[in-house]
Amino acid sequence: MKLKNKTAVVTGAGGGIGAEICRAFVAEGVSVAVTDVRLDAAQKVADEITQSNGRAAAWTFDVADSSAVEAAAEKIESQLGPIDIWVNNAGVSYITPFLDCTEDLWDLTQRVNLKGTFVGCQVALRRMVPRKTGLILNMSSQSGKQGNSHYAAYCASKFGIIGLTQSIAVEFAGEGIRANALCPGVVFTPLWDDMIEDYARKRNLKPEEVRPYMEGKIPLGRLCTPQDVAKAAVFLASDDASYITGQAINISGGSIME
Ligand SMILES: NC(=O)c1ccc[n+]([C@@H]2O[C@H](COP(=O)([O-])OP(=O)(O)OC[C@H]3O[C@@H](n4cnc5c(N)ncnc54)[C@H](O)[C@@H]3O)[C@@H](O)[C@H]2O)c1
Repeated sequence: MKLKNKTAVVTGAGGGIGAEICRAFVAEGVSVAVTDVRLDAAQKVADEITQSNGRAAAWTFDVADSSAVEAAAEKIESQLGPIDIWVNNAGVSYITPFLDCTEDLWDLTQRVNLKGTFVGCQVALRRMVPRKTGLILNMSSQSGKQGNSHYAAYCASKFGIIGLTQSIAVEFAGEGIRANALCPGVVFTPLWDDMIEDYARKRNLKPEEVRPYMEGKIPLGRLCTPQDVAKAAVFLASDDASYITGQAINISGGSIME
């Protein structure tokens, strides 16, 4: 096991990529705090893990509410032990023509994706720095390296996450802490449920043409899966990646990004 006896917090883990990261961590010996703004969803994932003899518990908080995150972290540490790994995964995503992007939509996207990551990093680092050890993973995206039409708010938030990750990686390297960002390509999770039609409209496609269209642009010929992302998360959290910090790792099937 690569992560035996570690404790991790994963945000936005009530489904999709976050839930899969929890499962992969537990398989490597981690005790996981499955957290989400939707308690029922987090509880379902935690129950599934504990029923298969893994160590997990569910918590609910809004990632952008610093006092709620701080309070949860305190309780998580008293129940599961000192937090070794913190994954800022929670996110929201909307496809909207730029001139129709309201201030509310802009604010919501930056609040959850960027401020939520900032808050998670601060709460984690306040605990990790005195212990001189810790690992932070921030969920960016292919859209954190490439701008795209109808996607300005999301791209801005994900570009911001890479800047934030690089900055804390440099600032805290001397404290024994690593920080990296993950940049997956498209993963068909619940995040896409409401976006397929908007994407089809933007590309003049029928909704059923979206998947083959996207797959046709990827050199490896398939979309990214939650498991692809979870494997990268395990690697980056492990000692196998002990010399890797401040990076934004592409998980993109060969789509080239800087
Ligand atoms: N699906 C993709 O194509 C894709 C690609 C690249 C990056 N990502 C990123 O991966 C992460 C996970 O996405 P996913 O595809 O699993 O989506 P998802 O919608 O399945 O999961 C996101 C989770 O975040 C939670 N959440 C939303 N707002 C929150 C808040 N304020 N506080 C706490 N939790 C909150 C949701 O309840 C949900 O469970 C996101 O950051 C997303 O931007 C997704």
